[in-house]
Amino acid sequence: MDKIVINGGTRLKGQVKISGAKNAALPIMAATLLASGNFEIHNVPDLRDVKTMAHLLRIIGAQVDFANNSLRIDTCKCNFYEAPYELVKTMRASIYVLAPLLARFLEAKVSLPGGCALGSRPVDLHLKGLEKLGAKIHLKKGYIFASAKRLTGASISFAISSVGATGNILMAAVLAQGRTVIENASYEPEITALAEFLVKMGANIEGIGTGRLTIRGVDHLNPVEYTVIPDRIETGTYLMAAAITGGEVELTDTDPKIVTSLVSKLRDCDVLIEEADSKIYCKAPNQIKPVGITTAPYPGFPTDLQAQWMTLMCVANGSSIITDTIFVDRFTHVAELRRLGAEIKRDKSSAVVAGTDNLNGAPVMSTDLRAGASLVLAGLKAQGRTDVLRVYHIDRGYEKIEEKLKLLGADIWREEGEL
Ligand code: UD1
Repeated sequence: MDKIVINGGTRLKGQVKISGAKNAALPIMAATLLASGNFEIHNVPDLRDVKTMAHLLRIIGAQVDFANNSLRIDTCKCNFYEAPYELVKTMRASIYVLAPLLARFLEAKVSLPGGCALGSRPVDLHLKGLEKLGAKIHLKKGYIFASAKRLTGASISFAISSVGATGNILMAAVLAQGRTVIENASYEPEITALAEFLVKMGANIEGIGTGRLTIRGVDHLNPVEYTVIPDRIETGTYLMAAAITGGEVELTDTDPKIVTSLVSKLRDCDVLIEEADSKIYCKAPNQIKPVGITTAPYPGFPTDLQAQWMTLMCVANGSSIITDTIFVDRFTHVAELRRLGAEIKRDKSSAVVAGTDNLNGAPVMSTDLRAGASLVLAGLKAQGRTDVLRVYHIDRGYEKIEEKLKLLGADIWREEGEL
């Protein structure tokens, strides 16, 4: 298994190109199952999760070619309506094929995702929503069996704003008969991107970018060409990499409008940020001011940047409190950061971080994708050598992370590890 090795202490400087958003590409790839024909999707990040979704689409019968960050997907011969356990266990986003299969073929069998490093992560909202649209759902031997004679529009009000459930219900409703209203829909930019992709295919959706979506079902949808939006979590991670190393970095091919909560928190820390159309310039102060965050659905502070923020606060000039309201157990990075000398106390869904200028390199273990990124950031700052093990987590969501950081001047490389 690969590991990333970092000799910390270098100030990052230069320009970095942000990739397409993983969490937009994955539901959009699943949504191609809603129509028969040839799709072209550009600005797709070359990531393990994208390859897993491509593999899943091939199992279902699609022809998928991926080259130079563009996907060609031919969905004409789809004839196997199943997402097997072997794939779902490596990528929970496989659940996104449930609604498109059901909407187009009126049946689907998808392995029930289990818990993960972020906690229990149920899919009850996806299933209840599909039942409201007329699906029959049975759980048997670890699988979700869904079928319907036809799907019919309904009013659905989510008790919790869920990205995945909103995406799945949206994909079912576009081909359901009649009108569907989703209340308390999530409107993360990736859901907005999915909705815009569906509209391009011929769907009728109102309220895009708000918490109330109204969908009028259509008889069929068409294949289209589409370009994926920039990755706001990768954007945020590089902004924090610049800030933590005392660096000066320009991010290109991104969108400042989708990272406003992070940018405002970075400014509170005295980081200088300048924004242009698709660029963000970031210059670190001599000392990072401590600033607490509480994660919340968009446009609040994203849970997917919580671990990286904690690393930044580990070197701030004082104490801060970090609270995760989305995944209350998302703190596996705390023990690993402590191995580097971080001073963090966990209290239920919060962590109190006391900044120190004494981070020292050590071997640490990635426990999930964003926790892994937080350890890379810590390694960039820590004195001496940090080995980040289990890089496969990081490879799920960061395209060429060590190459991009090397271009910014980091002393970082990948090695074959023993674990
Ligand atoms: C998506 C993102 C993930 C991000 C998360 C929150 C993708 C592929 N993944 O995950 O990176 O961390 O949004 O922004 O886009 N919940 C239920 N029942 C359900 C569904 C969700 O109780 O049926 C709860 C979850 O446990 C969690 C909250 O709702 O507490 C939000 O989760 P959700 O938005 O659904 O996350 P995902 O779509 O799985």
